[in-house]
Amino acid sequence: MCGIIGYTGKTSALPILLDGIKRLEYRGYDSAGITVLDGSGATRLRAPGRISELEALLPPLEERMARAKAGIAHTRWATHGAPTEKNAHPHTDCTGTIFIAHNGIIENYSELRNFLTTHGHILSSETDTETLAHLIEHEARAGVPLEEAAASALRQVKGTFGLVIMSQQEPTKIVAARRSSPLLLGIGKGEHFVASDASALVQYTREVVYLNDDELAVLTPQSYILRSLDGQTVTTQPETIDWSVDQISKHGYATFMEKEIFEGPEAVTNALRGRLINSEGRVKLGGLEAVEERLRTIQRLVIVSCGTSYYAGLVGGLMLEEYAKLPVTVLQASEFRYRDMPFDHDTVVLAISQSGETADTLAAVKEAKRRGLLTLGLVNVVGSSIARATEAGVYNHAGPEIGVASTKAFVSQLALLGLLTVHLGRMRSMPLAVGNRIIQELSNLPELMRSVLKQADDIKILAERYASFENFLYIGRKYNYPTALEGALKLKEISYVHAEGHPGGELKHGPIALISNRFPTVAIAPTDSVYEKMISNIEEVRARGGAVLAIGTAGNTNLQSICSDVCFVPKTLEMLSPILTVLPLQLFAYYLATTLGRDVDKPRNLAKSVTVE
Ligand code: M6R
Repeated sequence: MCGIIGYTGKTSALPILLDGIKRLEYRGYDSAGITVLDGSGATRLRAPGRISELEALLPPLEERMARAKAGIAHTRWATHGAPTEKNAHPHTDCTGTIFIAHNGIIENYSELRNFLTTHGHILSSETDTETLAHLIEHEARAGVPLEEAAASALRQVKGTFGLVIMSQQEPTKIVAARRSSPLLLGIGKGEHFVASDASALVQYTREVVYLNDDELAVLTPQSYILRSLDGQTVTTQPETIDWSVDQISKHGYATFMEKEIFEGPEAVTNALRGRLINSEGRVKLGGLEAVEERLRTIQRLVIVSCGTSYYAGLVGGLMLEEYAKLPVTVLQASEFRYRDMPFDHDTVVLAISQSGETADTLAAVKEAKRRGLLTLGLVNVVGSSIARATEAGVYNHAGPEIGVASTKAFVSQLALLGLLTVHLGRMRSMPLAVGNRIIQELSNLPELMRSVLKQADDIKILAERYASFENFLYIGRKYNYPTALEGALKLKEISYVHAEGHPGGELKHGPIALISNRFPTVAIAPTDSVYEKMISNIEEVRARGGAVLAIGTAGNTNLQSICSDVCFVPKTLEMLSPILTVLPLQLFAYYLATTLGRDVDKPRNLAKSVTVE
């Protein structure tokens, strides 16, 4: 949520900042702004809307701005104040010399605002961020260096921040600080970068330093220094990012979402790579080795996650219960935090997150740690906050996911949960043959997924036919109830068409009242242990005049005879079936949204990683 980038170095900052916010635009896209500084002063440009609208304003200032070799930029997802030019970042103080771009929420901003206005400051926006620029001005009055003024101001702040600050007094210096909102430094030669995530830096440097909570960094072209907000020196070694700029390109696809759906099989291959020990019916999860002994005595697993990752958790919970005989509770992270669940010390908390930055999931991890529980992460983004906050974990290795709608990360998460099921199951009572069977079925998945994706053209035609409907019901049972929830989420978030997911068994407890010939149902009905029950649900919908689009197992002619339309997926183990059944749902949502002319990579009101609560 909100993307920020800063650069100080030997070359023009403007193209680097513009390119950086474009790469970060998936984090927020309702307004954008840039400030560059050089010896002659600061130039700031801000605009509501997409970055293209900011660029449209650039020509009269471009020559001047291009001379500056330091600056900061921001792409916004609004929290306080509408997405207008005045509310766009960077914000400045009364003197117009301090500039700040911020991601996060200043919770005590009304209090700070009152304090500042009574001390004569005039604030011109409705944002919480602007108070920080003035607070730093207030602290800087005695002529203290920018980092000292920033640290004193930030010590007074309640809330979250990933931010960059510059001052005309020291035009080549950038001060960056973090609390619960992601920030990393990019280490170059004679130049330094800071950004919300690596995608903005990776084409310039792969050497990065992740900031921890309550740390502050001071960047100049020649050096970077890290310290805590209360002045303690921090030493840290740079890490190397293992992905390239190539992975954040569209590769000829119209959108990132389309590309990422088609990357699903590769994401599963990468999740499995080097982790299957075929002959022994076991898997090797290197990231869990340090806590192996503690995992042997685990009595209960609590999975915490949000959105699509929560639905993956629901499937994982069923897998672990059925095959590892482990009691599992799956909770939305935002709910976990505010419950008073009794735990014993054998409970382990598993956080699932593509971005590794989701504020609610991160807060749930912190709460679990506070309560003395072992925390594990299942995370895609290496070095992200959740990956670092959890004691052990497993990476997806799915590569960057840029489309706001999560697709390849979901199938990758399900594959990893399959691996975790074998891992914990074999530590408990799972027989060798069962371990081997799951491993074999997991290995077959990428090929089976490719065969489903080959039906894309047919699914596109279907989606075009269904695009005039304004409401959809998604139903499924057991392993494919979460798939129904995920299919409905995909459709609504990118097409803005109303869709709701329910367990098939719940239909007659209310949702069936919605059915009419204008309210079609998508039924996920592979041939599995609940298939017959799903058929009864499909019949109930048909009897009330509702069209049914079913996802079934290849060769099931019965389904074809009773449903309006059917997409087929190959047979696999029931616990792994969502990895196949979700693919037609992703494609259906994608093509329906593009038929309606939606901007699927940047759907309205959303942002890729939700770093505010
Ligand atoms: O990065 P995370 O997996 O923690 O994100 C969780 C949700 O915000 C995310 O899955 C969201 O629901 C997506 N827009 C779904 O497509």
